[in-house]
Amino acid sequence: MGSGSGWKGRDVISILDFDRDSLEQLFEVADKFSSLLRERGRIPLLEGYIVALAFFEPSTRTRLSFETAAKRLGADTIGFTSEEAISIAKGETLADTIRMLDSYADMIVLRHRYEGAALYAAEIAEHPVINAGDGKQHHPTQAMLDLYTVRKLFGTIDGLTYGVLGDLRYGRAASSFILALTIYRPRMIYLISPPLLRVRPEVRMVLDERGMRYREVESLEEVLGELDVLYVTRIQRERFPDQREYEKVRGSYRVTLELLEQHARRELRILHPLPRVDEIAPEVDGTPYAAYFEQARNGVPVRMALLALIAG
Ligand code: NCD
Repeated sequence: MGSGSGWKGRDVISILDFDRDSLEQLFEVADKFSSLLRERGRIPLLEGYIVALAFFEPSTRTRLSFETAAKRLGADTIGFTSEEAISIAKGETLADTIRMLDSYADMIVLRHRYEGAALYAAEIAEHPVINAGDGKQHHPTQAMLDLYTVRKLFGTIDGLTYGVLGDLRYGRAASSFILALTIYRPRMIYLISPPLLRVRPEVRMVLDERGMRYREVESLEEVLGELDVLYVTRIQRERFPDQREYEKVRGSYRVTLELLEQHARRELRILHPLPRVDEIAPEVDGTPYAAYFEQARNGVPVRMALLALIAG
């Protein structure tokens, strides 16, 4: 697997480090794993590997799906959760923690509240570093499973009209998804948010540089009828420097069944990186619009493919 692919040994810092061909290769391997998993629980390609899961910030889905992916491939995992990180740190620098993990493991999956943490770790570590979220900046493996989900639902990522709704300012999943779309040829991207939560300039710059068709709007109703994919995100309360700002936007959008029935196309599919707070009404869950649980499930085969390709 992975011969001549350019995947072996590489770091995963930003989704922009990848092109269509390498992503397509990832998705094809994920498809293979996905069908193999229907027959058996283990595909032991990474026997003897150790994957370090270094989560300095809370995580359930991302950490557990990486752990599941590693274990289904026969690898072992070491690591810590954010609660444990507080007690083990004892004032140790990130650099020293990374050096230690690098000497124990064959790969490091890192989540940290600082933007640039994964890139910094990759400069220190000899083994590949996978960014599982660095502050508000990047979440490339989430973007990979998001794209994979769209590709599975629609058979293509190109030519669709996308709406990305919510906290485009502090949400790394939203930013990474928007950046990921610039690798493809979407028909249109609507960036839907209250003014306070608009997309950051560095993300807008990539959209401009790559000649994307996009528009920033405040109202979901205005564009809902045009969308094929609606990517909803939670307001990232913990990243607001001032909680009074959070109070201004709290609960400012909510996707309800009524809204969907009034405005959405029947073919619309809704994604959400989860966790959800109140931005999608639970009554939407049982409808064909809801693709977010399937999206979360796709985390395992996509991360299996990622680990296997990087291990080479
Ligand atoms: C996201 C994250 O941590 O950035 N969650 C995830 O990885 N599935 C989104 C969020 O926390 O809102």
